Amino acid sequence: MDLGIAGRKAIVCASSRGLGRGCALALAEAGVHLTINGRDEKALEETAQAIKKLSGHSPHIVRADVSSKEGQAALLKACPDPDILVNNNGGPPPKNFREIDRDALLDGVVQNMVTPIELIQAVINTMIERKFGRIINITSSSVRTPLQGLDLSSGARAGLTGFLAGVAREVAPDNVTINAILPGMFDTDRIKSMVAKQSQSRNVSEETVRNERLATIPAGRFGTPEEFGKMCAFLASIHAGFITGQNILMDGGAFRSSY
Ligand SMILES: NC(=O)c1ccc[n+]([C@@H]2O[C@H](COP(=O)([O-])OP(=O)(O)OC[C@H]3O[C@@H](n4cnc5c(N)ncnc54)[C@H](OP(=O)(O)O)[C@@H]3O)[C@@H](O)[C@H]2O)c1
Repeated sequence: MDLGIAGRKAIVCASSRGLGRGCALALAEAGVHLTINGRDEKALEETAQAIKKLSGHSPHIVRADVSSKEGQAALLKACPDPDILVNNNGGPPPKNFREIDRDALLDGVVQNMVTPIELIQAVINTMIERKFGRIINITSSSVRTPLQGLDLSSGARAGLTGFLAGVAREVAPDNVTINAILPGMFDTDRIKSMVAKQSQSRNVSEETVRNERLATIPAGRFGTPEEFGKMCAFLASIHAGFITGQNILMDGGAFRSSY
């Protein structure tokens, strides 16, 4: 299927590894010109090479903390008028809710709620003027179902979801869509490090922890960044103009509900 977005411009935040990288590669394959972001230079270079190989275009690289004002300014300088914005960031580390102090609470809210909202505020008017905009937010399945120890992540992302539910309807007449993809368990560095931490703290093998997690997923496997990226590229496409304000769960059937 031709996604109809070749030559469009995209900012993909936090895209040197994992799900963000999956989105960047899928957009590159569709001919989109990319601005990628992360903090580690080596990972960014590697992803930039992969993008060039796929699309023939070298992406703009913005090495910066996307949560900082400076990082956001650098992204917007590299790509002032994106047609597509993929909001992504690291998530707060797992922690018992009693132990999260005020500073950590505020950091989590800035990371997973304030930062995507600020970037949307910065780009949405030019999208409206051009009558084309696609905003995709990477949130989490924890917006729909709680995950123990990830309360701050769930709360901040649920706040973002609520904030954007109204905004999506406000900008819909101008062919600007805002959707979220909610990952369940995907095979990325983040999942690997969570499995490693749990195996250490519980003194069981990594294989045991991994198998316990897999047993909760009807599909019997973790998701891949490639399939996540394809969903993102579809939501960014010309064909998805009638999908807005939606929260698309990709979790291999783990969340049990009839509809
Ligand atoms: N994987 C899953 O199963 C899953 C499930 C639910 C929710 N999520 C959420 O989805 C998001 C992506 O997860 P992932 O699994 O792809 O993680 P990952 O494999 O750890 O990759 C995270 C990416 O974000 C970049 N990054 C992190 N903090 C950043 C910052 N402050 N500024 C700029 N770039 C930053 C990292 O690069 P640098 O470290 O070099 O900056 C890296 O490219 C996270 O918010 C995560 O909580 C993931």
